[in-house]
Amino acid sequence: MNKEKIEALKERTKQLLLGGGEAALQKQRDAGKMTARERIDALLDPDSFQELGLFVKHQCHDFGMDKKEMTADGVVTGIGTIEGRPVCVYAQDFSVAGGSLGLSHARKITKIMDIAMDMKVPCIGINDSGGARIQEGINALAGYGEIFYHNTAASGVIPQISVILGPCAGGAVYSPALTDFVFVVDKVSKMFITGPEVIKTVLGEEIGMEELGGARVHAETTGNAHFFANSELECFAQIRKLLSLIPHSNEKQTEDRRPACEPKAEYADICKFVPDDPRQPFDVRNIVLGVLDDSDFLEVHQGFAQNAVVGFGRLNGQTVGVIANQPMVLAGVLDIDSSDKIARFIRYCDSFNIPLITFEDMPGYLPGVDQEHAGIIRHGAKVLYAYCEATVPKLTVIMRKAYGGGYIAMCSRHMKADFVYAWPTAEIAVMGPVGAANIIFRKEIKEAADPVAMREQKIEEYKDKFANPYVAAGYGYVDAVINPDDTRKYLIQALTIAQNKHVEPRKKKHGNPPF
Ligand code: HXC
Repeated sequence: MNKEKIEALKERTKQLLLGGGEAALQKQRDAGKMTARERIDALLDPDSFQELGLFVKHQCHDFGMDKKEMTADGVVTGIGTIEGRPVCVYAQDFSVAGGSLGLSHARKITKIMDIAMDMKVPCIGINDSGGARIQEGINALAGYGEIFYHNTAASGVIPQISVILGPCAGGAVYSPALTDFVFVVDKVSKMFITGPEVIKTVLGEEIGMEELGGARVHAETTGNAHFFANSELECFAQIRKLLSLIPHSNEKQTEDRRPACEPKAEYADICKFVPDDPRQPFDVRNIVLGVLDDSDFLEVHQGFAQNAVVGFGRLNGQTVGVIANQPMVLAGVLDIDSSDKIARFIRYCDSFNIPLITFEDMPGYLPGVDQEHAGIIRHGAKVLYAYCEATVPKLTVIMRKAYGGGYIAMCSRHMKADFVYAWPTAEIAVMGPVGAANIIFRKEIKEAADPVAMREQKIEEYKDKFANPYVAAGYGYVDAVINPDDTRKYLIQALTIAQNKHVEPRKKKHGNPPF
């Protein structure tokens, strides 16, 4: 073997691994950010990364680019493992021309996405880029277009994870937006279509980068980010945790982790978390923790639309997707943001064969001019569509209020829930007793000698008739009225039989959900 050639390879590789050079890498670290290769090493299992495309060059000759070397064309791509399971990964290297995206850079990304799709493994993209490489003009735009096409092709086939660890601006934000989960890190991540300068020029509005598109904004206000972390390392731990819970392709099941741990002792008595007075709020997370294995729950979209809670956990060793109304926030109503949050989560779970468990306590859709005019009808319809379309096992627990459209929407029997359970505290009705009494007994109340007493009497009558689970159970819309203490047991039994569920989708190209 020619030793010189091997030495030459080593030398070339060493140079290329320096990305944009020591000074540029140091600048990145001084800005409080890890470098692209440090990020990959921290995310993947030790020594598992195999880089592909290190020697790729750009093909641009304009604006002096023919004289410019751009190491690996500004993006590190390759394969590796997380907890022993294979993944594909790419990380934009800001030390090389600001991680800007030219055609070769984009083709490296689409190639790794092709590998991920062919091998049926998750694809994780770490974004840190000044956007379209200006010198490459239309070819940079072509590169983005090809990435978007690949994101769409991979949707529902493999999990796609976007990690925003630097700027992600202009049309570049649409690749993350097309993926399943977006992770952001406080003070590091920035996402926007047009930056503060453009906004100032066009609209005269002044706003800083952080306030416009920082991590908190996307985790709490826009909902563009699903997971928020305080540091890059915390973010990588979140990704590893997520990947431990979800199937790695639409053809795989989640890992069966039996024997399962029981919920932690402090959550075991779920009744203690539910107040006697049905008008008093409670934190639904305590119920979820009281049901899931080891009280372990990975919440998705934790800071966004907090009137709904969604996330992953295990039930008897099998991953489930949990959707719950949160009585603590806006009484758990469905509004525009929570509808979007719930519908997208359902569709993710259904794409990847994850059973759905719904915990319901909500007085319906949020009324108001703002909601109506901003489109609660079309956003709210997404929840109906997503639940109806989902063919994975669907289990529902009605805890307290299940009123009106909310009752139907939250995975009722009519949405083809497989098993519907209700606690004795459930109130299943067209609307709340006060509103109902005011409408149907308006005349009697108005004409009564004591209208206040009459209203109270009519409210009580309505409550007696409908504010319980037994009428719905009488029609078979509720399968069993259960002691809340038995919720976990019932759900595990139902999930065990539902593992055999197979529903052949109707023959059609695809549906037309109310996007
Ligand atoms: C080419 C770029 C670049 C770009 C940065 N660089 N962005 N080169 N194309 N888009 C280069 C810089 O020239 C510099 O090179 C190096 O990267 C580091 O950039 P700095 O400006 O020194 O870094 P910093 O001060 O941290 O500022 C980062 C930044 C800024 C905020 C991202 O670079 C910036 O505003 N860049 C332009 C952003 C932009 O307008 N992009 C186009 C968006 S339009 P040297 O050689 O000096 O080290 C778009 C359309 C996509 O993306 C549409 C898709 C559908």
